[in-house]
Amino acid sequence: MSDDVIKLETVKIERDGGTTFVILNRPEKRNAMSPQLHNDMCDALDWAAEDDQTKVVVITGAGGNFCAGQDLKLFFRANDGNPKAMRRAGLASQAWRWDKLSRFPKATIAMVHGYCFGGGFTPVIACDFAIAADDATFGLSEVNWGIIPGGLVAWAVTQILGYRDAMYYSVTGDKFNGAEAAAMKFVNKAVPVTNLREATMELARKLEAKSPAAVRYTKEAVRSVRGMSQDQAMDYLHCKSDALKFIDPEKGREKAMKQFLDEKVFKPGLGEFKR
Ligand code: ACO
Repeated sequence: MSDDVIKLETVKIERDGGTTFVILNRPEKRNAMSPQLHNDMCDALDWAAEDDQTKVVVITGAGGNFCAGQDLKLFFRANDGNPKAMRRAGLASQAWRWDKLSRFPKATIAMVHGYCFGGGFTPVIACDFAIAADDATFGLSEVNWGIIPGGLVAWAVTQILGYRDAMYYSVTGDKFNGAEAAAMKFVNKAVPVTNLREATMELARKLEAKSPAAVRYTKEAVRSVRGMSQDQAMDYLHCKSDALKFIDPEKGREKAMKQFLDEKVFKPGLGEFKR
């Protein structure tokens, strides 16, 4: 682990080459999200976005669990009757779990093991990719204690699950495991927990090898067009393509065409160009 990383009270940062693990670090509380953790995650993501070594971010939890949702004591009870503190905590919670993560300028992977409850769903959905242990436990447990999947959870769940599944798991609070999550496409895949890091790193290394500008623009394009009409998407994607040609410091398009058409040293169908 490199010691040039940001130090935070409730979030741990670890490097693995160009991949940076951002780790919710309250294992004794199953990584339940306190206001401090929300602030720390905001700082961690801002740091990772600007860190030159970081090409891919993996979000995960310490101690064998991903996240037990919002901290009922520190996020909810401690702020009951204090609307200003509740507002601040809510803003920070929303900021990292959705605003920063879903618009993150680098590839993001949620690596889920153990428990993932309630508000812990939001960062999983906001990440570009998710890989779970097949015995991970997911649950929209809000209904079990008399609240709704608030924040953005109910909305985020409908972005990724089919309507029947979103309704079923929101209203029943039934748990599902990693293998079931993969079958519903809530995560990209599920693997035995002993292979979780290896499977995550296999994807991370693949992403690290690609042009950062192309990865960023592609993920932004895929995410953005979902809410557009065909006409809007066509116009937006033209602009996005032109912008990529302009901003890409590597000039990947030209380099790749030269390597394929002139030098014949790479085949775009089979892998990325030589950078
Ligand atoms: N908020 C506050 N504290 C929590 C939370 C939470 N969400 N989850 C766990 N903890 C604490 C426990 O209170 C306990 O603290 P203590 O040691 O001081 O008593 C410690 O973490 C360990 O928890 P246990 O319940 O003892 O651990 P166990 O492994 O048996 O169970 C489980 C883990 C299943 C996650 C259980 O703690 C649980 O159901 N937590 C709540 C999950 C939940 O519904 N989260 C809220 C979702 S709704 C939302 O996010 C808006």
